[in-house]
Amino acid sequence: MRIGILGAGGMADALGTQWARAGHEVMISGRDLAKATAQAAKMTAQAAQAVVRAGTWVEAAEFGDVVMVGVRDHGIVDVLQAAGAAMRGKPVIDVTAEGPGKHDFRRPLAHLISDLTGGHVVKAFNLCHVDVWRMTPPVFDGRPLAVPLCGDDPAAMEAVRTLVADLGCTPVNGGGFDRAALLEATATFMIGLWFAGADAQAVLPPLALSGDHQPG
Ligand SMILES: NC(=O)c1ccc[n+]([C@@H]2O[C@H](COP(=O)([O-])OP(=O)(O)OC[C@H]3O[C@@H](n4cnc5c(N)ncnc54)[C@H](OP(=O)(O)O)[C@@H]3O)[C@@H](O)[C@H]2O)c1
Repeated sequence: MRIGILGAGGMADALGTQWARAGHEVMISGRDLAKATAQAAKMTAQAAQAVVRAGTWVEAAEFGDVVMVGVRDHGIVDVLQAAGAAMRGKPVIDVTAEGPGKHDFRRPLAHLISDLTGGHVVKAFNLCHVDVWRMTPPVFDGRPLAVPLCGDDPAAMEAVRTLVADLGCTPVNGGGFDRAALLEATATFMIGLWFAGADAQAVLPPLALSGDHQPG
């Protein structure tokens, strides 16, 4: 698929390089086109046969069958006011994550992105540090990393499931878009634990001890 990425930073590099290697066409974008072009050249060098392009915010939004929002939270409004119209009706991947103290529970970034684009937003890839997304594949204790997705549109969810599987990860249905704010808050909570030096992975029990309930 054609993937437009708003951003030319760490997440654009990590995920965009993996998706280019998997055979997708990728265009990244940033405030400084020369900087984004240099970053795209670096990604191309690491992506085997694929060529990673660079463009403006609008060009990347228009390019993508799927568009990933990979800019810092304080830049989202400006970037989407410039490029959001080109994302109307498209699958939009929201990878944004904020630490405690920055996250506004009254205004989840997923909702802001939905409002500013009119796209089919799927929240995903927000729970792990960028270095995890560079792993080929991310496997811990013999288990592929599970990646929860929250979104409403079946086609958008299917596209993101494919992109999760392309990393060697396992997509997990996290529910509809109404749960995106919970997934966002979960990242904020986990980041708080990690910043405090806690082993956040150890806080949850195995499935067998998750209680007596019907799955789904
Ligand atoms: N890093 C992680 O471990 C991680 C993990 C999960 C999710 N995320 C989320 O993924 C998103 C991208 O993170 P990242 O690590 O890729 O960040 P990054 O390396 O700092 O790059 C972010 C991109 O945002 C752009 N940007 C920053 N401030 C901007 C502004 N005021 N206006 C317009 N654009 C601006 C940067 O442009 P320039 O290149 O011009 O500076 C860059 O292209 C963030 O929302 C972050 O919360 C990050």
